[in-house]
Amino acid sequence: MNGLPVDHVALAVASLDDALPLYERLSGASGSRPETLPEQGVRVAFVGDLELLEPLDADSPVGRFLARRGPGLHHIAYRTGDLRAELRRLADENYELIDTEPRPGARGHQVAFLHPRSTGGVLVELVQVSGS
Ligand code: CO
Repeated sequence: MNGLPVDHVALAVASLDDALPLYERLSGASGSRPETLPEQGVRVAFVGDLELLEPLDADSPVGRFLARRGPGLHHIAYRTGDLRAELRRLADENYELIDTEPRPGARGHQVAFLHPRSTGGVLVELVQVSGS
């Protein structure tokens, strides 16, 4: 395989209860059950490869993102089989790591984020799918 595949694209939304049925109708896919991640300040659901992020409060990172930029693209995520090795490689390539260590993300996976300063203005997540 060539390079890291895109795992998902994430949108910041004001209301998961509004956005989930909207994207279900749009795509014809059923959404996952919403999951709350208190340490990231979000409630999350997936519709296929689309991740919908609702802030738990206005003062969370996604809450501030929504206030500043409105709903829309929040991050893209690449899948990797070895997140620690990938973080070392990207640090060596002078990407700016928000997370130097993997941390728990949605769906029980390990995740880490790269700073948009070093990725052309778009927040980038790396995901190591649990069991891989
Ligand atoms: Co994500």
